[in-house]
Amino acid sequence: MFQHVVAIVSGGASGLGAATASYLVRHGARVVVADLPRAYDSFLKLEEDVIAGAAGGSSVGDSGGASIKFASTDVTKEDDVSMALTIAEDEFGEQVNVAVNCAGIAPARRMLSQKVESDGTVSHRLHSLEEFSTTMNVNTVGSFNVARLAADRMARRSTDRDGLRGCIINTASVAAYDGQIGQVAYAASKGGIVGMTLPMARDLAPMGIRVMTIAPGLFMTPLLQNLPEKVHKQLVNNVPCPSRFGNPVEYAKLVGSIINIPYLNGEVIRLDGALRMPP
Ligand SMILES: NC(=O)c1ccc[n+]([C@@H]2O[C@H](COP(=O)([O-])OP(=O)(O)OC[C@H]3O[C@@H](n4cnc5c(N)ncnc54)[C@H](O)[C@@H]3O)[C@@H](O)[C@H]2O)c1
Repeated sequence: MFQHVVAIVSGGASGLGAATASYLVRHGARVVVADLPRAYDSFLKLEEDVIAGAAGGSSVGDSGGASIKFASTDVTKEDDVSMALTIAEDEFGEQVNVAVNCAGIAPARRMLSQKVESDGTVSHRLHSLEEFSTTMNVNTVGSFNVARLAADRMARRSTDRDGLRGCIINTASVAAYDGQIGQVAYAASKGGIVGMTLPMARDLAPMGIRVMTIAPGLFMTPLLQNLPEKVHKQLVNNVPCPSRFGNPVEYAKLVGSIINIPYLNGEVIRLDGALRMPP
């Protein structure tokens, strides 16, 4: 299904990115997982699972190992992302035609929080500028960095029958629309990704490069796995139908559909079971 795909998946060692890398490789793609050095052990486990056909997939055998590579990458660094794209070219013999942005962080911090002590005194904690900037830098600037450098490589490819050279898929969040208490930085960073989608698609149209964004709702990944059972139940109660967490493979399948449907371009797709987050 994806024999023609050479992809870079940022944040591909965990969660939605790992599900995507695994899904694409199991269906014939060649993928570079671009993630932080500390994610290398998770990548090795992913590689093992892909080769063994774990998580319900069919085994791709040793060829799976040859089709999935790790590039130690901080998405905010130009040199790291360029190197990851060069690894794709060197390992797979052609430039990438798919870039999936899954790297992200999700800090929870109110802009200004207030604590009333037992003696009635009130103290305040202010959101640091540094935490806001870091979130914007990883989520928004990092996505732009991967997209722009990948677009430059895609532009060197020849076109397909539709005049297309490649496809960039970003990951926003429903927080871009319904940011909750404590999500001011995260929501701003994801709103930036939503806002980039159409102008990026327009900028890259002359080169035959499409740009799409997925805005996931609640997916069971390490981002949420560590929350207590009680919180899981409360969160799921907000999801109308189907009333459960999203399965990362559902995200991966949407990536696959976007790759396979050339007429999808310049749009954000919510993937959230009709969830609208409460405050
Ligand atoms: N899980 C959800 O419910 C959910 C919902 C909405 C949006 N999202 C978004 O989906 C994306 C993936 O989330 P996830 O749940 O899979 O999270 P995750 O924590 O499982 O995976 C994120 C990956 O990004 C990597 N990463 C972090 N900073 C990086 C950097 N500077 N450079 C390179 N890699 C970096 C991490 O090492 C990790 O492997 C994120 O952008 C997140 O905001 C997730």
